[in-house]
Amino acid sequence: MPDNTNISHYHVLVIGSGGAGIRAALEAVKYGTVCIISKTITGKGGCTVMAEGGINGAVNPADSCCSHFEDTTKGGAYLNDEELVRILTDEAPDRIQELVQWGACFEVTKDCTLAQRPFGGQKFPRTCYAGDHTGHEIVMTLLEQLRASNAEIRDETYAVELIKAGDTVCGAVLLDAAGNLSAVTADAVVLATGGAGQLYPVTTNSTAGTGDGYALAYRAGAELIDMEEVQFHPTGAVKPADSRGRLITEAVRGEGGVLKNTAGERFMKTYDAARMELSTRDVVARAIATEVASGRGTKDGGVYLDVSHLPAETIESRLPLMLSQFLKSGIDIRHEAMEVAPTAHHFMGGVRITPDAESSLPGLFAAGETAGGVHGGNRLGGNALAETQVFGKRAGAAAGKMPANNTAEVKTAAESALKKAAGRISAFFSGTARPAAVKAELQQIMWNNAGIYRNELDLRRAEREIKRLSGLRLHASSKEEIPVAVTVENMLLTASLVVSGALLRRESRGSHTRTDIQVPWTNETSPFGHTWFAREKAGIEIREDRFQ
Ligand code: FUM
Repeated sequence: MPDNTNISHYHVLVIGSGGAGIRAALEAVKYGTVCIISKTITGKGGCTVMAEGGINGAVNPADSCCSHFEDTTKGGAYLNDEELVRILTDEAPDRIQELVQWGACFEVTKDCTLAQRPFGGQKFPRTCYAGDHTGHEIVMTLLEQLRASNAEIRDETYAVELIKAGDTVCGAVLLDAAGNLSAVTADAVVLATGGAGQLYPVTTNSTAGTGDGYALAYRAGAELIDMEEVQFHPTGAVKPADSRGRLITEAVRGEGGVLKNTAGERFMKTYDAARMELSTRDVVARAIATEVASGRGTKDGGVYLDVSHLPAETIESRLPLMLSQFLKSGIDIRHEAMEVAPTAHHFMGGVRITPDAESSLPGLFAAGETAGGVHGGNRLGGNALAETQVFGKRAGAAAGKMPANNTAEVKTAAESALKKAAGRISAFFSGTARPAAVKAELQQIMWNNAGIYRNELDLRRAEREIKRLSGLRLHASSKEEIPVAVTVENMLLTASLVVSGALLRRESRGSHTRTDIQVPWTNETSPFGHTWFAREKAGIEIREDRFQ
């Protein structure tokens, strides 16, 4: 609770209010006071609310958690932490049932069991869904629970820096929309700030996806892994120009949509004849990029995604959002094909966590896209929403069980972090570089040099350019502009980790494709494990056993 300075103390502070953050808060509040902050409006700004196609879980007796595990690790190019995958696949069915009990309206079959649709890379149609607005349904359900709980919700509040007493994370310095600083100290902090799709100019992510959690954790000294593994969703909108990158859900292909190039060929037969359009996202995104680069794409750099052969009723009932979105730009997908192209979508890497979602720093937990390790090199569609619920709950429970830590040392740490943040922020007033311009330049650098296809020359160029941009002094002309400058600093740091990981991983694995390196091993026999990043150091794990 606030004292006469601008420092307040809670048992748990949750940073981020998407599916993972809200689920963590709901669990943590069982143990004590909780403050959940959102840099937008709680439940409205993150990626969960924008997720369309569905949530995976082996809820059908004909399916199994084991099969879900196998699909997830194979789809992840065997870079996943198997223990985390086991937890995801074992616990997802219970988390889905819990959402249903809380009132989530997922589609059901005639016999009132949960309906499931096929998604890429899965042997069983295990994606539960609510039309093509599943994330919205989940977030609204969670929000109702959150509002009925005792958790304090703070909207339009940014985390500027984590507070540490010794090695232990014990709160965060916060910034409100008017540019005022305060601090929350806490016995535990959960980071659930989503990913960083905004590093690219074409992305499915909302403007909130700026990698804040990665930057906060890294600056505090936590270990991150696999930051080079950036997923490009194969199907983003191409037109109109201001919607470029907007998600065209994988459910379109799950319901039977086919991809064609401008010659009218179903080109997926060249890239994955067995799974065709329901191959994994890394494969489909590369296929589309290759078709376009080979001159078989549209003039706007896309290919066609067609559902016009499906009954109109299927499109109307299963893909209502897609239908209405395209109708707004004059395209009736019941009769015409959509134009699509890859778009930055999901970060598989992130804060290294234990099964209880604890980071390498005591007191700091991470869940959802902010955490790394669950999805390996490539995430299966539908596994992100499952991850938010499984690891959001785990993070909230583990944070909730942390002992009280409201000592004089913590208060002193908060005061000194506040002072430091005030210095950092006042420096923006004498800065010269416009954050919006730096952001736009960074996005172009990342798109051109660290996108779907990568090579050493381009990555070194990106490294140099990011270094140059990071050396600029960002400017804010008013207190209200400070959050933008803080965010752009986070983006620059996150981008440097992506590029550093991409240089370290001298192989093609999952979503990371190095065109300049050919290797004799397969994903299963690769000698490499995770890339890792901590305290100005980075490396790649070598798995000695793979040489036996
Ligand atoms: O395509 C989609 O509906 C996205 C789902 C996901 O990323 O899990």
